[in-house]
Amino acid sequence: MFTLAHLSDIHLSPMPRARHLDLFGKRVLGFVNWHRGRKVVHRRDVLDVLTQDIVGREPDHIAVTGDLVNLGLPEEFVLAAEWLRHLGPPERVTAIPGNHDAYVRLHPERGTGHWQPYMRSNEAGEALVRTPPTAFPFVQRFDDVALIALSSAIPTMPFVAAGSLGSAQRALLGLALEELGRQGLFRVVLIHHPPLAGQAGWRRGLRDAKELTSLLKEKGAELVLHGHNHEQTLFELETVTGPAIIVGVPSASEAVSGRISAARYNEYRIAKVNNGWHCEMIGRAVAESNTHVWECERRILRDV
Ligand SMILES: [Fe+2]
Ligand SMILES: [Fe+2]
Repeated sequence: MFTLAHLSDIHLSPMPRARHLDLFGKRVLGFVNWHRGRKVVHRRDVLDVLTQDIVGREPDHIAVTGDLVNLGLPEEFVLAAEWLRHLGPPERVTAIPGNHDAYVRLHPERGTGHWQPYMRSNEAGEALVRTPPTAFPFVQRFDDVALIALSSAIPTMPFVAAGSLGSAQRALLGLALEELGRQGLFRVVLIHHPPLAGQAGWRRGLRDAKELTSLLKEKGAELVLHGHNHEQTLFELETVTGPAIIVGVPSASEAVSGRISAARYNEYRIAKVNNGWHCEMIGRAVAESNTHVWECERRILRDV
């Protein structure tokens, strides 16, 4: 059995001090937004309670699906890299970027480049699917399970949090799904934005959700994990190789304050059984007191 923990939308705090020089364009609005309310919603103490629980349960692997930072300040990327190291070594942790990690156009060396060890294939994955020069999608293989990591993060105008994969990345994803399916692996697709059309509006959604949905139907996948909407959602998509389960997870740092969808992560237990798969999801959420984590859901997603 392989255990995979999935968390998303870290929105790491406290925010480093922003210099006047860094606050231009979209960041000015984000800065005002953060101080008006988001900093009360996304709390470091809540995140720490959640991550302590994950680390303590020692899953085989941990997937972080984006929005690690808030305004895309260079110092935020350094702090997020430190946080990733605290979560575990690159062999056991995979990260992909979200729209907040591409808040403004930034040279990779000053931005997500700091997370590079956590954003690359492993040897077994590379043997099956070569990583393109654009870095995405990259594939990691762990025995019967393969992670296919995508980037839907693109810089956008203020008030827009949309994402896009683009035709080149979609084409490579199609080839990867085919090859990994041929190998009989349990395919887990990681993406920040919700993959299905209608899961988020034009301003916040994945621009090529329709194309991605068709691709998933045509090539098949077993599990698709995403964030962005900051809520727990579960959909089933019928594909050529059986059902693909699509799960969105709430933000990992969201304090309980009247909203139901507070900080939570999901743990997946995946096992090959006869000619099919057994996959169970265990939801673990931060309690109202914000002091500990409890098992809020347990559900068999697949048993064939
Ligand atoms: Fe987010
Ligand atoms: Fe997002």
